[in-house]
Amino acid sequence: MAAFTIAAGTGNWFSALALGVTLLKCLLIPTYHSTDFEVHRNWLAITHSLPISQWYYEATSEWTLDYPPFFAWFEYILSHVAKYFDQEMLNVRNLNYSSSRTLLFQRFSVIFMDVLFVYAVHECCKCIDGKKVGKELTEKPKFILSVLLLWNFGLLIVDHIHFQYNGFLFGLMLLSIARLFQPSIFCLWFKPQGPRGFLRCLTLCALSSFMFGWHVHEKAILLAILPMRKEKPLFNWMETFYLLGLGPLEVCCEFVFPFTSWKVKYPFLPLLLTSVYCAVGITYAWFKLYVSVLIDPPVGKTKKQ
Ligand SMILES: *[C@@H]1O[C@H](CO)[C@@H](O)[C@H](O)[C@H]1NC(C)=O
Repeated sequence: MAAFTIAAGTGNWFSALALGVTLLKCLLIPTYHSTDFEVHRNWLAITHSLPISQWYYEATSEWTLDYPPFFAWFEYILSHVAKYFDQEMLNVRNLNYSSSRTLLFQRFSVIFMDVLFVYAVHECCKCIDGKKVGKELTEKPKFILSVLLLWNFGLLIVDHIHFQYNGFLFGLMLLSIARLFQPSIFCLWFKPQGPRGFLRCLTLCALSSFMFGWHVHEKAILLAILPMRKEKPLFNWMETFYLLGLGPLEVCCEFVFPFTSWKVKYPFLPLLLTSVYCAVGITYAWFKLYVSVLIDPPVGKTKKQ
């Protein structure tokens, strides 16, 4: 229903897209979930029942709290809703605990946090030039962007089957980006502070906190869905070289490494290499985004004087 209210301004198709995918997420509630389900249950239990000083030391479960503080606080807040569903999931000793109420709470927490994602997509759509409207709905850039983001298959699988909270984090990032392109509200509100500088710092802070909660190796793939469209070639030679390098890296990790003597001594090496390689790419992408935001004029302003 929240999605419905938010969508009122854009037209009915947006609400239909948002509600449709929400219903699909509800259908996925009873499907398979990974160990991440137990990981998040344990983190709810840790943050709920222990003082902050213990959060990063508690090791009853093998799934210790190894995410940054922003995410720990997020679990802490969730746990205060979880207690109304099933108190037992908040016991640190209840390893592998599951009940239908626990399952419902965990699944609905992901679906509910996606409200931020839906709102962020809605705000991103506002930044797109609405004048270039095709005859068909499927020709509208806003519609295409909404479908690509809201019905993103990767997010559906990773969050609503596998079980994680990427939609919420991704929404935070999209909202930050959307705000970069719609500065007028802030200009009005924060005139004495140099509106643009203020807004940019604020948004960069949000982006940094997002990156802080970023778990490199499994989420690198989600970055590929960031809608960055430009008339220039998409990648320069260095970036192309980097992306092509992923191929040999995977070959080494999957097919060469298992036959070397290092397999026994350094079993973590393939994962380490992949993580570091992706981390370099992601850091570079963010750095480039920062530079483009700070140097290039915002698209919204230059398009029409
Ligand atoms: C919890 O489940 C995991 C696998 O899902 C298993 O390895 C572990 O032994 C279980 N722990 C307990 C205490 O049942």
